[in-house]
Amino acid sequence: MAEEEEIEVDEDLDVTTIAGIGAVTKQKLNEAGIYTILDLATAGPAEIADVTDWDVTKSVEVNNKARKRLVELGRLGADFVSATDLLIRRKNITRISTGSKNLDDLLGGGIETWALTEFYGEFGSGKTQICHTLCCMVQQPISEGGLDGGVVYIDTEGTFRPERISEIATARGYDAASVLSRIMVARAYNSAHQELIVKDLGRMIEKHKVKLVIVDSAVAHYRAEFLGRGTLAERQQRLNRFMHAILRTAEVYNVAIVLTNQVQAAPDSFFGDPTRATGGHVVAHTSTYRLYLRKAGKNRIARMIDSPYHAERDIVFMLDERGIDDPAEESSKRK
Ligand SMILES: Nc1ncnc2c1ncn2[C@@H]1O[C@H](COP(=O)(O)OP(=O)(O)O)[C@@H](O)[C@H]1O
Ligand SMILES: [Mg+2]
Repeated sequence: MAEEEEIEVDEDLDVTTIAGIGAVTKQKLNEAGIYTILDLATAGPAEIADVTDWDVTKSVEVNNKARKRLVELGRLGADFVSATDLLIRRKNITRISTGSKNLDDLLGGGIETWALTEFYGEFGSGKTQICHTLCCMVQQPISEGGLDGGVVYIDTEGTFRPERISEIATARGYDAASVLSRIMVARAYNSAHQELIVKDLGRMIEKHKVKLVIVDSAVAHYRAEFLGRGTLAERQQRLNRFMHAILRTAEVYNVAIVLTNQVQAAPDSFFGDPTRATGGHVVAHTSTYRLYLRKAGKNRIARMIDSPYHAERDIVFMLDERGIDDPAEESSKRK
């Protein structure tokens, strides 16, 4: 993200507090966008090895030290914790209302922090509209279904529209100018650029008190750039790295990650809906929650896929000036 300014690092979090990192290595890490222990922990060993010329063993060691230090600082949970502690820690997971009561119900209360939620569906199924609505909702106070947090919006398809945010915010009675000012948008022009933007994510999250990171869409560039069978392995490897970098970010910063994904025809599917999400197993296995969206006339239908904790049922939502919304007869019933 093009914010050219001096990067100030909290002394406790400086990379040189990790044994084995001196001035020279610090310089190399900084050049690669790694300034803090949080960056080190989210980068992962392969990336650390790349920028420092260390071997993988040393990089793994440093990565582990960074994680351990974060545990000591209370920024990250320990590797082994009792289930009791885990339950307490999971109480820190908070939720963002989607703006539709039906969709919130399907999600068990809204979009979770500390998790990766994927919306996939055909063109026009409402993925981008959900993202735009979430941009407004996350900024609301907790009592109103938000987290009083900012947004990072990674736009890979060029479909982010501030005008639409304005419309949604106004329709919901929020101050549009204030809502717009807390959304940091990065237009990613290709997959390498998308990966570069993610490297800066930690700093943006801290600086703008971000609680929601959106990638709309996550897989499109990878699909467009890696064509043909011979490139599939490399594509999946790169996508895997991207997905895990973003998942680590969710964990380290306790933010919600929302990804959108397109569908492709699944010719081997004889029954049911002949479409499936792009990105294959890499995306499917990294997403914590996956929701499949489809069009039904003016309405939209969402279904939670492959979740052991959610019932497989369809809910209905619609698109209007409030972004996404509940169908009229239901929203009037609520009031
Ligand atoms: N202001 C609006 N009022 C009602 N519907 C809208 C509005 N803006 C966009 N839409 C609808 O949203 C749909 C596009 O949804 P979108 O989220 O962009 O799809 P995708 O899943 O491809 O990202 C279109 O059917 C469009 O009619
Ligand atoms: Mg879209």
